[in-house]
Amino acid sequence: MKVVVLENADQAADRVSAEILEALQKKPDLVLGLATGSTPIGVYSRLIQAHQVGRVDFSRVTTFNLDEYLDLPPDHPQSYRFFMHKSLFSGLNIHPSKIHFPPTQGPDLPGQCERYEARIKDCGGIDIQLLGIGSNGHIGFNEPTSSLASRTRIKTLTEKTLRDNSRFYESLETQPQMAATMGIGTILEAKKILLQAFGIKKADAVRAAVEGPVSAFWPGSALQLHPDVSLYLDSESASKLSLLAYYRRVEQNQEYLRQRDSK
Ligand code: PGA
Repeated sequence: MKVVVLENADQAADRVSAEILEALQKKPDLVLGLATGSTPIGVYSRLIQAHQVGRVDFSRVTTFNLDEYLDLPPDHPQSYRFFMHKSLFSGLNIHPSKIHFPPTQGPDLPGQCERYEARIKDCGGIDIQLLGIGSNGHIGFNEPTSSLASRTRIKTLTEKTLRDNSRFYESLETQPQMAATMGIGTILEAKKILLQAFGIKKADAVRAAVEGPVSAFWPGSALQLHPDVSLYLDSESASKLSLLAYYRRVEQNQEYLRQRDSK
């Protein structure tokens, strides 16, 4: 795993958006896996900015979101579709038919989930998956004890996740208790994974993901099985890593190698 420790969320968003824009320049029909929540907002505003100054074209890009709340209509202000439209899609020129969310409406959700997986495969798989991490270590809505081989399906949210997200709701009763989410197995098939985590609330989850044993109890730890994962952390979320000084030194040495190569 590549662990990049930065001073703040802005620096992380600079690095992650730069990686996405560089990939898009190389592959205009990029397939992106996208996340919701507070964490990716900085990346999304930078992508919009790059598009609006004419640096990049998103017309051939395909997107697959990680998760969505069960039974919320797409125009519901708490739905992740609504969030994504507001924070990203309304500022880009992605064709609506190339935007995908896990199924949360209508009959036969298991069948629809299978078709979501098949659609990802038909598009050639996800090139870059953007991730946040929950304070309980979840990735997507793969809550603790999710199978490390899980696929897209409906999950019940833990009390901790409901509490963490209750800041968006007026009362607990109106908060959806279930969501559709890509599985951990689905996420691990992305070609490249970029995870951001900010704030002291994420420090235990980050430590478990990077330095803990691989365990379904800390779903982020499954990322240790993936060959191309980068974590972009601020100093607070990185503060419980025991090899923090080492990760900083690795980054300095990587920078040395980049400069050495460009001579
Ligand atoms: P956050 O959520 O970005 O709002 O912190 C991340 C997550 O729960 O995966």
